Parts: sequence; C-alpha cells; structure tokens
Amino acid sequence: MATGINAQSVAQEFLQHANDEQLHADQIAQRIVQLGGEPNFSPDGLTTRSHSEYVAGESLVDMIKEDLVAERIAIDSYRDMINYFGNDDPTTRRLMENILAMEEEHADDLVSLLEEFGA
Ligand SMILES: [Fe+2]
Ligand SMILES: [Fe+2]
Repeated sequence: MATGINAQSVAQEFLQHANDEQLHADQIAQRIVQLGGEPNFSPDGLTTRSHSEYVAGESLVDMIKEDLVAERIAIDSYRDMINYFGNDDPTTRRLMENILAMEEEHADDLVSLLEEFGA
C-alpha cells in the first residue's frame, strides 16, 4: 500500500520485515512440533490470538508509526516469553532471544525511517 515519492525504499523495508516475520513464524512452529505440539495455523481467530492489531495507515508515515507500535508490542511479548522460559527450556529461550534481537532491529529501522521523514 506504500505510495508516493519515498514509497519504494519504505516498501522494500516492509518486505524485508514481512519476510523476517514469516521466518519467525516458521521457526516457532518448528519448535512447537519438536516439543510434540501442533502449531495453530488456522486463520480463524487469528486476530483474537494476535497480540497486536491490524491498523491500515492513511499515509506512509502513519503506516510506519502503526508498524512501530506493532514491533514494540512484539518486543514486549518476546521479553515476557523469555522470562517465562527462564532456565526451564534454554533452547526455546534462545530462539526467542534471537527473534527479540531482530524485532529490536525492526523497531530501530522504523525509527530511522520516521526520522528521515522528519516525523
Ligand atoms: Fe517477528
Ligand atoms: Fe518485527
């Protein structure tokens, strides 16, 4: 949905982040299977299971701001999960720590974009 003069670089960043998020979903699903569980891929209830909500931005800057909110929610969620796993499941905790580091990079990328736009 990114349009306008700066759209290409922002769309590129969004695409990179979306690919990273897909990777996270795959990694977590794989870990759930390793632990003998069944990942829930059903689209039913996806929005109620999500920690963040979908908000369509009106402008490029709005979209980046909404995305930043979602990244910060993800950061809080992964921090909570890392605390929850503690020393009980170091492998899952390490996976979550790696994902958390990437979410922090995402948030940082978005803050940089907002600064470029003077927002
Ligand atoms: Fe992610
Ligand atoms: Fe992210």
